[in-house]
Amino acid sequence: MTILVTGAAGFIGSHLCEALLNDGHRVIGLDNFDPFYDPAIKWDNLARALQQQTFKLVEGDIRDRSLLRQIFTQQPVDVVIHLAAKAGVRPSILQPGEYLDVNVNGTLQLLEAMAEARTNRLLFASSSSVYGNQAKTPFSESDDVSHPISPYAASKRAGELLAHTYHHLYGLDVACLRLFTVYGPRQRPDLAIHKFAQLALHNKPIPLYGDGKTRRDYSYVGDIVQGIRQLLELPAWGYEIFNLGGGKPVTLLDLVRALENALEQPLEVHFLQKQAGDVEQTFADVRKAFQHFGYQPKVNLAEGVKAFTEWFYSKEYNSSMYSL
Ligand SMILES: NC(=O)c1ccc[n+]([C@@H]2O[C@H](COP(=O)([O-])OP(=O)(O)OC[C@H]3O[C@@H](n4cnc5c(N)ncnc54)[C@H](O)[C@@H]3O)[C@@H](O)[C@H]2O)c1
Repeated sequence: MTILVTGAAGFIGSHLCEALLNDGHRVIGLDNFDPFYDPAIKWDNLARALQQQTFKLVEGDIRDRSLLRQIFTQQPVDVVIHLAAKAGVRPSILQPGEYLDVNVNGTLQLLEAMAEARTNRLLFASSSSVYGNQAKTPFSESDDVSHPISPYAASKRAGELLAHTYHHLYGLDVACLRLFTVYGPRQRPDLAIHKFAQLALHNKPIPLYGDGKTRRDYSYVGDIVQGIRQLLELPAWGYEIFNLGGGKPVTLLDLVRALENALEQPLEVHFLQKQAGDVEQTFADVRKAFQHFGYQPKVNLAEGVKAFTEWFYSKEYNSSMYSL
């Protein structure tokens, strides 16, 4: 298959591109190397994929319709895996317009270009944040998601709804994946595990917002990539939404303990006020993904954090791009 991966140079995108290339697919990676974090990290993420002849990188923006048209007319694309986005809950509160423009308008441009080119399979990276501050656990795909509490969450829900519209109007085959806090090697530097590891390296205390009892369902990036590979094997999707998570939520303090074990050093913790936009808990019900395509997260938190720290040590000591 020929697969267009938007956001290819990012954390999840770069792992996915490597796996798809290994599976024998031709991959076109589209990324604008957005400065949300150092683009040098993204080039580093892509180093392996760029060595493959079946990988083609297009540097550009998903909002650029003429560029999208060019990509789709140069070669038939079988599937689009749309990961490009402004990610992160807290920064979306500071830059709501930019988040909505990339995540909603960008998704719209992509859907329009797909409909025009009659490219009709879309896998869209949504987020557990669409569940908002829901008390009922675990979160299932049929739960009410009409109460997002950050611009980022609202933008992801808008993406799911737009994708449904294009499924209805043009028969696009759509799978929306609600990803639950993804971690592992190459994790974004703004996310908890990576940020904490950097602070520990510089002997700085770890800021914990709230009382440390907020719970997150962490998903290992390799499990997410495996889930996407299994989903690609289904002959048709129609329009479906799937949770992809680890299915075992842990508190922020548990996470700090796991990191202490992996780094083999005690971490100093500073408790700070809870941040606006942060949800109390996330907890994925992954039964639907298991029933439809056999999704089964395999890597537990201790193993995943260990894999992260091994990668972290291999990079951080030698590189200024990750420095605080
Ligand atoms: N990492 C997580 O925990 C998590 C959880 C839920 C959902 N997601 C979603 O998964 C996707 C990938 O997340 P990630 O953690 O790998 O993030 P990331 O920031 O590492 O990757 C996103 C990539 O998109 C690119 N991009 C941003 N704006 C673009 C634009 N206008 N045009 C082209 N490229 C653009 C960035 O340069 C970046 O390389 C995102 O859609 C994110 O919202 C991630």
